[in-house]
Amino acid sequence: MSHSANLVIVANRLPVDRVTLDDGTTEWRRSPGGLVSALDPVMRANDGTWIGWPGGTDGDMEPFEDDGLHLVPMSLTQDDVEEFYEGMSNGTLWPIYHDVVAKPEFHREWWDRYVSVNQRFAEKAAEVAAREATVWVHDYQLQLVPQMLRELRPDLRIGFYLHIPFPPQELFQQLPWRRQILEGLLGADLVGFQLAGGAANFVRLVRQRVGHKTHRDLIYLPDGRTVRAAAFPISIDTAGFEELARSEGVQERAKEIREALGNPRKVFLGIDRLDYTKGIYARLRAYAELLQDGHFDVEDAVFVQVATPSRERVEQYRILRDEIDRLVGRINGDLGRIGSPAISYMHSSFPREEMAALYRAADIMVVTPYRDGMNLVAKEYVACRYDDQGALVLSEFAGASDELRQAWLVNPYDINGMKSALLQAYRATERETTRRMRAMRKTIITHDVAAWARGFLEGLAGAGSSHAKQVRPPRKG
Ligand code: G6P
Repeated sequence: MSHSANLVIVANRLPVDRVTLDDGTTEWRRSPGGLVSALDPVMRANDGTWIGWPGGTDGDMEPFEDDGLHLVPMSLTQDDVEEFYEGMSNGTLWPIYHDVVAKPEFHREWWDRYVSVNQRFAEKAAEVAAREATVWVHDYQLQLVPQMLRELRPDLRIGFYLHIPFPPQELFQQLPWRRQILEGLLGADLVGFQLAGGAANFVRLVRQRVGHKTHRDLIYLPDGRTVRAAAFPISIDTAGFEELARSEGVQERAKEIREALGNPRKVFLGIDRLDYTKGIYARLRAYAELLQDGHFDVEDAVFVQVATPSRERVEQYRILRDEIDRLVGRINGDLGRIGSPAISYMHSSFPREEMAALYRAADIMVVTPYRDGMNLVAKEYVACRYDDQGALVLSEFAGASDELRQAWLVNPYDINGMKSALLQAYRATERETTRRMRAMRKTIITHDVAAWARGFLEGLAGAGSSHAKQVRPPRKG
């Protein structure tokens, strides 16, 4: 089946997960992320196609349709997974782009594999895109695709969006392949970042490392093309989350959760991918010290920490898991009582309904990454607090802190600072939490993921000097 699409999304992952049912058969299930729901209407209006990896190493799969979306699975071999995904993407780029919170590794074989997998994604996009179509490439795993694709298909309008932070020059320069990556991205007409700081880092690097002329957010290429680099902070399906949070099932479940926790006065909550950038260890230590110092007791409060399994074959993620297991064990061993652990820890992933119930059950949401592109959990919590209640403790180093100014903002490296913010949130009056929550809700109600997608696609339509067709806005109703 060869389908010719006017809008092509290229991302490392497909928006569906393969699940194995009890009878051994498999089926596709829509991934919970907001990206799919944001792009769904515009994909439909433009007969869009999504190219991505379905996970695993199951070999070639035919393109298929899922609930009206055209999906093109890209298969990865075991070596691709080890060198492109676990290696270059998550062992080199991920730590470099996140303030070297962990030590990045540089291996030439990983880079070679990154180039070859990017080339395959670019070839697939070139194959399925209609003449003068729009192709939107996503994230750090595919930074070479824009330029590779432009060489194959100069008629296309190409956008790139980086979901994670773009690092400062001092860190980016460590990359032995820094110039190739900058040139890869410059194949796009519009390069989007979470924050203005990331866009500025990119423009400065292009000027200094590649030697192109720049003016504000524009880069002038010798071949006459213009590339724009700008910030488009991502968001969530705010209305969708609120609706879910208001549903009877979720409200019931939230009550159940609080009861199962022994109806403490206050429930603290952390929900993160189990990743060293998220600051889980330091946050739990800060909380344990508050108990030790006697500010409150395990009968008064409990910390629920959900850590979603992630990248489990990468060494640094395994080490982190062991460290957290040990810390939680020690804290509960030292401070817990029968029926009242200090920390209720779960290493698992939950469906959206359960997440919404947890957000509803929590009085204080704790989001303290060392570095995070945006952090959608913080926004989801705010979306679910339609009662204007609940406190958010948020790291200054999460992109979300740019918009959610009324959170209790903390420096995650400062344990005493975190302790005092957690305590303030614990002691805050209803009036105080309401004032802050109301302001934050205003922000995310107007700036949801649909507005984000529209903003980027409009920016892309106006960017560059190509004559490609415009993307049609979604049909009304
Ligand atoms: C971050 C990245 C995404 C990635 C996700 C999950 O949000 O920006 O590109 O898909 O983490 O990580 P995984 O390695 O499981 O795809």
